[in-house]
Amino acid sequence: MSRWRAEIAAASDLERLADLESLCFAEPWGRESLAAAAGGAGGGSLIVRATEGGEPIGYLCYRIAADEAEILRLAVHPDWRRRGIAARLLEEGLRRIRAGGARRVFLETQSANAGARSFYRSFGFQEIARRRGYYRAGGEDAVVLTFHA
Ligand SMILES: CC(C)(COP(=O)(O)OP(=O)(O)OC[C@H]1O[C@@H](n2cnc3c(N)ncnc32)[C@H](O)[C@@H]1OP(=O)(O)O)[C@@H](O)C(=O)NCCC(=O)NCCS
Repeated sequence: MSRWRAEIAAASDLERLADLESLCFAEPWGRESLAAAAGGAGGGSLIVRATEGGEPIGYLCYRIAADEAEILRLAVHPDWRRRGIAARLLEEGLRRIRAGGARRVFLETQSANAGARSFYRSFGFQEIARRRGYYRAGGEDAVVLTFHA
C-alpha cells in the first residue's frame, strides 16, 4: 500500500500548482486554467502533499463528460519522481472517474515524453492515435492514449 494520500486540491493550492506547471511542462497552465479544471462541471483536481498539510508535490486534473473522461494534467515535482506519487494520483483519479460513471478515459501526451508513455503503459493505457504538430512549443506530435476504466 502506497504511503501517499491523494486528496482534493484546495483553492489555496492553486499558486503552488501553477509553480509545478512551470517546472513540469513546456506549455504551463496558469492559475485560471487550473481553477477551471478543478471547478468546472465534471472536473476534479487531486493532489499529494509531501507531509500532512504541506505543499503539494504532485497533482492530477480530470474531467468527466457522460461516460467518458479526460486526464487533463498529471505532474510530480522533479525531486519527488519515481516514488509512486503519480501512480497513487492516477489510481485515485480512476476510482473517482469510475464512481462518476465514466467507462473510458482519454489523454494526450508528447510523443517524445518517453517517461509519461512508459508510466501510462504500465497502467494498461493503449496508444490509439497521433496528432501531428499538436504542441505549439517545438511543434511536437501528441500521442492519444485510452483506458477502459
Ligand atoms: C510522468 C510523471 C507524472 C511520473 O510521475 P512519478 O511520480 O515519477 O511516477 P511513479 O513513481 O508513480 O511511476 C510509476 C511507474 O511508472 C513508470 N515510470 C514513471 N516514470 C518513468 C520514467 N521517467 N521512465 C520510465 N518509466 C517510468 C515506472 O514503471 C514506474 O514504476 P517504477 O518506478 O517502480 O519503475 C512525472 O515524470 C512527471 O511529472 N513528468 C512531467 C510531466 C508529465 O510528463 N506529465 C504526464 C503527461 S500528461
